[in-house]
Amino acid sequence: MTTTVSTPALSIGPIALDSPVVLAPMAGITNTAFRRLCREYGAGLYVSEMITSRALVERTPETMRLISHHPSESLRSVQLYGVDPKTVEAAVGILVDEDRADHIDLNFGCPVPKVTRRGGGSALPWKRDLFGAIVRRAARRAGDIPVTVKMRIGIDESHVTYLDAGRIAEDAGVAAVALHGRTAAQHYSGKADWTAIAKLKEAVTSIPVLGNGDIWQAEDALRMVDETGVDGVVVGRGCLGRPWLFGDLAAAFAGSDTRFRPGLGQVADAFRRHAELLVEFFGEEDRACRDIRKHVAWYFKGYPVGGDARRELAAVESLAHMDELLGRLDRDIPYVAEGIEGQRGRAGSPRTPALPDGWLDSPELTPAQREALIEDESDTRGG
Ligand SMILES: Cc1cc2nc3c(=O)[nH]c(=O)nc-3n(C[C@H](O)[C@H](O)[C@H](O)COP(=O)(O)O)c2cc1C
Repeated sequence: MTTTVSTPALSIGPIALDSPVVLAPMAGITNTAFRRLCREYGAGLYVSEMITSRALVERTPETMRLISHHPSESLRSVQLYGVDPKTVEAAVGILVDEDRADHIDLNFGCPVPKVTRRGGGSALPWKRDLFGAIVRRAARRAGDIPVTVKMRIGIDESHVTYLDAGRIAEDAGVAAVALHGRTAAQHYSGKADWTAIAKLKEAVTSIPVLGNGDIWQAEDALRMVDETGVDGVVVGRGCLGRPWLFGDLAAAFAGSDTRFRPGLGQVADAFRRHAELLVEFFGEEDRACRDIRKHVAWYFKGYPVGGDARRELAAVESLAHMDELLGRLDRDIPYVAEGIEGQRGRAGSPRTPALPDGWLDSPELTPAQREALIEDESDTRGG
């Protein structure tokens, strides 16, 4: 008898993944309900939405709910945001000491003004000393739990940080780095620059490098790996309203051509399942129904569902109401690639990042900036 030992497609520290695929953290989206739905289709690592370190240290009820996982989530992955090394370290301590996560990702990519204005998210790697302190302390405090870094190319074309940040993170002991191929100034506009991802892969040699940006179809993921040499991919907007993309990605990386091509009936079922899982997550049907409304346009994009039906679904009030509305759809309408495939979710236009005063004057923190790093981030949400 021959025993075959399968090689993981991607290892992040001790975590061995069968498919080199990571669900990108998305605020307001990648809660346990959406992660469970995606996992029902595919394999990979499914990251929480961003959690504010300060709020975790303060154990706000909302944050404790956001870091909760369903028992079926065998790999618990939490993304932390923070600007103060001590607070990030303390938040990591809670996750590790209380056995609340198997993987911790650090957010250095968020371009939202209320985050960058405080020097956080995509503004932070510009300050090499602060960035180094956060990743070193987080990685050390996490011990055997792998810590990864997710970042952008830089603040803008003139303030590029990803190569320095990649090397600093590697030296600090992180388990992998992921690059979204845009600057903060680009927000979600234009096309992600995959050549930067290839350059990071050349520069960071001892840990996996993951590529992120504009993977809409499984074929895009294969192409990214082919063009950049990355060890894995991080997929965000492409799976909005299409949790089965993770099935396609697992198939594609296993060398199969099998793809999910759901007709309208299957889409309606997935939408209903998502809502049910949200009811479990929120513990309230009303809140779940309000939340699922933002997913309507994504699920039904490209399917011939009329304006009235869309409007009614986007105002759904209960699961019974949802069943009535979904019952009116023609379940036999087939998948038509055109309209369904391609870009979805946020796009927007470039904008000048909001930054703390004098942030760009020096790549090191000034004493005044160090003083000002008292976190005031309890209402921060990612992006
Ligand atoms: C609605 C939304 C929320 C997001 N929230 C986060 C977040 O909490 N943390 C983070 O690191 N990135 C966040 N992002 C960025 C994504 O993780 C990802 O880097 C970006 O969307 C590019 O990948 P994509 O082209 O596959 O969407 C968010 C993106 C979107 C669209």
